[in-house]
Amino acid sequence: MSEHIIIERRGAVQIIRMNRPDKKNALTRAMYGAFSAALRAADADPEIRVNVVFGVPGAFSAGNDLADFMTVAMGGDGGTEVWDFLLALAESEKPMVSGVDGIAVGIGTTLNLHCDLTFATPRTVFRTPFVDLGLVPEAGSSLLAPAVLGRQQAFALLGLGEGFSAERARNAGLIYAVVEEDRLEAETLAAAEAIAAKPPQALKISRDLMRAPREELTARIKLESEHFRERLKSEEAKAAFVAFMSRKK
Ligand code: COA
Repeated sequence: MSEHIIIERRGAVQIIRMNRPDKKNALTRAMYGAFSAALRAADADPEIRVNVVFGVPGAFSAGNDLADFMTVAMGGDGGTEVWDFLLALAESEKPMVSGVDGIAVGIGTTLNLHCDLTFATPRTVFRTPFVDLGLVPEAGSSLLAPAVLGRQQAFALLGLGEGFSAERARNAGLIYAVVEEDRLEAETLAAAEAIAAKPPQALKISRDLMRAPREELTARIKLESEHFRERLKSEEAKAAFVAFMSRKK
């Protein structure tokens, strides 16, 4: 488990809160591990009907911890936590609602493609600088984003790394609604409670019918991950990680 992931239960709602504010909620291996354990626990517990994901004020997540990427780039062990998390996300059987405020980079953006409803505040910017980091899209986003946004907006997001404001993200279909900061938690939890009150079996079948076929999604995540692992060791990626690490010196 990780001190940086806080799990809370409110009735049939499980709240997963990323809580590493000093690093803008950059996700470490331990955080991925705790996050996937929570998703798997929800799948195994009929009393949990919906997952809610929050970050901290101003930072949903700055994406994968770049120091962890650097470790792999230099030939170190990356562990299996990220892979386990991506599978847990793709296989998760419970509806998921996210409440996003502020920074939403990399997986902080792409995990919302797995959510059934995403609320975001006006100051939120979604960004996936994969290509600028010498990397490729992950978490099934190369499959999900074109389906959700259309190919050109997906290319702007995943290929060009353009920032999507909450407004643009809503207009493009990436998120459900824009809500003010002081209403984010209440609106997100109200939506989760509305989901939790639905007949669970009918909801599960309906949700499954609306989602990308699971085998196709996991096959895409596997393909992306193969490229991703290779790209992490590329000169392009190493140069980008070094630039980030040394930017304040
Ligand atoms: N991995 C590791 N540490 C990170 C991080 C990441 N992805 N994102 C932010 N941090 C750390 C910073 O190093 C800094 O730590 P320090 O105070 O010990 O120096 C702290 O979080 C605050 O970040 P800072 O850059 O000062 O905040 P900011 O508000 O000026 O900028 C971001 C926020 C997210 C725009 C900027 O930190 C950033 O670009 N991060 C990298 C995002 C990224 O590329 N993620 C990977 C996507 S695949």
